[in-house]
Amino acid sequence: MPPLLAVDLAPGAKNSLVLRNPVMPASGTFSWGLEFARHFDVNALGAVVSKGVTMVARQGNPQPRVAETPAGMLNSIGLQNIGIKKCISEMAPIWARWDVPVIVNIAGDTPEEFGEMARMLDGVPGVAALELNISCPNVDIGGIEIGQNVEAAGRAVRSAVRNTDLPVIVKLTPNITDPVGLAVACEREGAAAICAINTVLGLAIDTRRRAPVLPRARGGLSGPAIKPIALRIVYDVARAVRIPVIGCGGISSGEDAVEFLMAGATAVQVGTATFANPRAPLDVLEGLARWLEERGIADVNEIIGCALPEPVA
Ligand code: SIN
Repeated sequence: MPPLLAVDLAPGAKNSLVLRNPVMPASGTFSWGLEFARHFDVNALGAVVSKGVTMVARQGNPQPRVAETPAGMLNSIGLQNIGIKKCISEMAPIWARWDVPVIVNIAGDTPEEFGEMARMLDGVPGVAALELNISCPNVDIGGIEIGQNVEAAGRAVRSAVRNTDLPVIVKLTPNITDPVGLAVACEREGAAAICAINTVLGLAIDTRRRAPVLPRARGGLSGPAIKPIALRIVYDVARAVRIPVIGCGGISSGEDAVEFLMAGATAVQVGTATFANPRAPLDVLEGLARWLEERGIADVNEIIGCALPEPVA
């Protein structure tokens, strides 16, 4: 018997977010999903996550925007995107015809702008949930600045939750001393789920030019290099909150996904692996299903959080 794979990412929320399986792409690595839909059936995934969308269209940062590193890559895209109005008028109608929930990643300049964007997306056919990007390290306004401040992050979540019935997921930055405290604050303000983690701040030097490779010097590190950091944060956050956690960071195989689920994640996102292998999310899903089947585990929910310590009574 193939294992049961369905997971619930927003139990008790007004609009539920039950996924047919726990594997989805990470924001920014799957564009709007349309390009990938030409290569495989995206409906096989648990969800699709859009690239980050802002209130107004953006050109992004100057080139080069990526730098390869051992076991990963640095990016500094700067949230290049078509803006929320075009996202609603051009992308959502396509998503509405898909049989897979689409989670829209939104990036406000201010905590209050998250509320305005949530209101604009509320009730739009084709949009199943929102992922608040309070963790982009590559912009001057908003992004990580909000995600590194508990009060600002709480206001962004409150503002979004008040303006939509869609489940609100919050994507955390690892570039903070206490991600657990931030996750708890987001839960208190009504977040339906936490996604951990966005990229880790890093730097690469071009020795020939004697200067940083990326024009803004710093970039966000992703890929296998950050997997242990992501796992540790998922493990810590999952013990502190009651809402589901989505694991993200260096996942490229079914066994990686199993580790995150055991550490307390209810679902996983596959990011950087997709650049080398566009089918990576599907490969992770197939690897996960095989792993469960080979061990006679009937339901993926049986392993979620199984590596967490017993709560102290
Ligand atoms: C970027 O657009 O620079 C990356 C997005 C992110 O890290 O959230």
